[in-house]
Amino acid sequence: MFEYKNEFSAADKHEGLIIGLFDRPEKFAGPLKIVDESFDGQLTDLVKAGDVSAKLKRISKLHSLGKMGAKRIWFVGLGKEKELTFDQLRNVLGKVFKEINGSKLTEAAVYLDSFLTEELDSLDAAHAVGEAFALSSYQFEGYRQKSNEPERKIETLTLYSKGAVEEDVRASLTVGYAFGKGTNSARSLVNTPGNLLTATDLADYAANLAAKYPFEAEILDKPEIEKLGMGAFLAVNQGSVEPPKMIVLKYQGKEEWTDVIGLVGKGITFDTGGYSIKTKAGIVGMKTDMGGAAAVLGAMEIIGELKPEQNVVAVIPSTDNMISGKAFKPDDVITSMSGKTIEVLNTDAEGRLVLADAITYAKHHGASYLVDVATLTGGVITALGVNTTGAMTNYEPLYEQVLEASMEAGEQMWQLPLFESEKARVRNSPVADLNNSPGSEGHAIVAGAFIGEFAEGTPWVHLDIAGTATSKKEYDLGPAGATGVMTRTLALFVERFEPIKK
Ligand code: BES
Ligand code: ZN
Ligand code: ZN
Repeated sequence: MFEYKNEFSAADKHEGLIIGLFDRPEKFAGPLKIVDESFDGQLTDLVKAGDVSAKLKRISKLHSLGKMGAKRIWFVGLGKEKELTFDQLRNVLGKVFKEINGSKLTEAAVYLDSFLTEELDSLDAAHAVGEAFALSSYQFEGYRQKSNEPERKIETLTLYSKGAVEEDVRASLTVGYAFGKGTNSARSLVNTPGNLLTATDLADYAANLAAKYPFEAEILDKPEIEKLGMGAFLAVNQGSVEPPKMIVLKYQGKEEWTDVIGLVGKGITFDTGGYSIKTKAGIVGMKTDMGGAAAVLGAMEIIGELKPEQNVVAVIPSTDNMISGKAFKPDDVITSMSGKTIEVLNTDAEGRLVLADAITYAKHHGASYLVDVATLTGGVITALGVNTTGAMTNYEPLYEQVLEASMEAGEQMWQLPLFESEKARVRNSPVADLNNSPGSEGHAIVAGAFIGEFAEGTPWVHLDIAGTATSKKEYDLGPAGATGVMTRTLALFVERFEPIKK
């Protein structure tokens, strides 16, 4: 799929050629000079006239009309060299790859050196190319009897680079590509409807990952879940005809099973709300309620590809949240695996219940740090909108590492506070240790506070992706639908993780 070349020449044949164009006063050099000369100096004129623009994210396409080996050239506006960030580069590359895929070419080349700045070297650029290429080519096939047209996409991408060692550039390209692919896997899981992705299907998916990568899989069935006393998880499953699955994947990248990172993902394959039933408008789209599980599995795929020297245990509680004569109800009191009892005030606040037992179980598996990811509350959308993941923590140094990773991955997050006043609301029940829904005021925060009760003293970060797991509109790096958000953040976080000395 990826080819590599050192020298660029005007005669090299390509269906499409991608060249970065910075807004700089100097004369053209490198491939730009070659293009300008092939066009008898007309590129200079086109840039002056604004027909070819160096403005950030402007894309200008030229046909070479036989004057060069490349049939079409896409000039990618990069703005001022000093101002270009890695995130912008990844986005703009996504935009141009999308455009080329849309024009049905199957082959293209990128002149990598045209994207370099003092801050961004060949390896950064190669990573951005690999990641943007995978992400922006994603499409969910769907289930139509006839697809409109056979998809045509770039199959061969040639990289021109002479700025660095070929092996290193190829490695960065592959790493970027792995990040994109893992995210795409997460997207497909989220886009799959609830009738075709049950807890059992999700468990099979995880088992397949374990067959492909050096993971140990442990899938707990209902009798084992019962034996372990996971009453909170079981309550949510109670109304379902689908058996619950507690899915565990272990990856050991260190000699000793110490400094274990626990990644916990909400795996509700469909959320009706239960007896606190959702509205007919609010229920549509609830197949995406396993977005946290998808992000964890996507990250595990990347981890399996890159094999970092870290220890990871992924824990995914999976079930749907249904109604039947057997379903759990408001007022029910349930006992979690930790022993803490919970008064159910709202069966639609089911995510925190399944996560409670998953967090406890992750600790049983030796997790010394916890990150949970969940499409947990509509409240986070009210608070932060649909472009920013809500975060909470009981330990700032851990949050800082997650935040760093999110910035590098280009996935926005913002911290919400965890004050004693909100912990008190969760602890307020006349009959049990906790209640699962103390009212709608700041309910993204109380949901996080509830989960924190089960993390207890273990450093923990909570990520609420209810707003960010899907996108209504297409964007530079993907189509409308599932975004695969937090897949790359989690994988980067794991890769870069440094144990924290308390
Ligand atoms: N799965 C929902 C949260 C959600 C909302 C995800 C919108 C994606 C988009 C969650 O289980 C839920 O229903 N939360 C309730 C909590 C409330 C009952 C305290 C909510 O946010 O309204
Ligand atoms: Zn719910
Ligand atoms: Zn839910």
